[in-house]
Amino acid sequence: MSLDHESIALIQYSLEKLRAELPTGDTRFYDRLFQINPEMRGMFRDDIAGQGMRFMSTLAVITDALTTPNVFHDEITRLAEGHRAMGVKAAHFAPLGDALFDTFRDVLGTDFTAKIEEAWREAFVIIAARMMEPAETAGR
Ligand code: HEM
Repeated sequence: MSLDHESIALIQYSLEKLRAELPTGDTRFYDRLFQINPEMRGMFRDDIAGQGMRFMSTLAVITDALTTPNVFHDEITRLAEGHRAMGVKAAHFAPLGDALFDTFRDVLGTDFTAKIEEAWREAFVIIAARMMEPAETAGR
């Protein structure tokens, strides 16, 4: 499964815009995530502000890497190992995606179009599948 160039361009453009407009230390993405799925709060440290920025910057690295399969593979493999060790499951990706899309809507308003959302949904399916693959089969 792969994304076409237009979808990748929409993903990169929208994330760049979101990151430019989110104030440093902004926690609304996590606030929304824990509202959607309160049980996930306990998995994260109490001070969530720095984590929020790391999520966004890593998301940028991963989505940029969508255009270069080998880089994508390395980044995803590293991230996947840590997340599997923390007990992250495939079912956790849907609430995370929904929280991200609500954050996009909140910050970008009507600039977050249905087409951009669709591109992100496809990307999330790919990222989730790669992060949840058993390590021994990843990348094959
Ligand atoms: C698009 C997918 C995701 C990205 C880009 C991402 C990114 C990150 C990053 C950059 C970190 C910091 C540690 C590190 O660099 O490994 C992290 C930690 C973490 N992530 Fe993710 N993550 C993703 C999906 C998820 C999902 C689905 C969950 C489900 C609960 C999750 C839960 C966590 C937790 C619990 C931590 C540790 C937080 C803490 O120490 O407080 N992540 N994530």
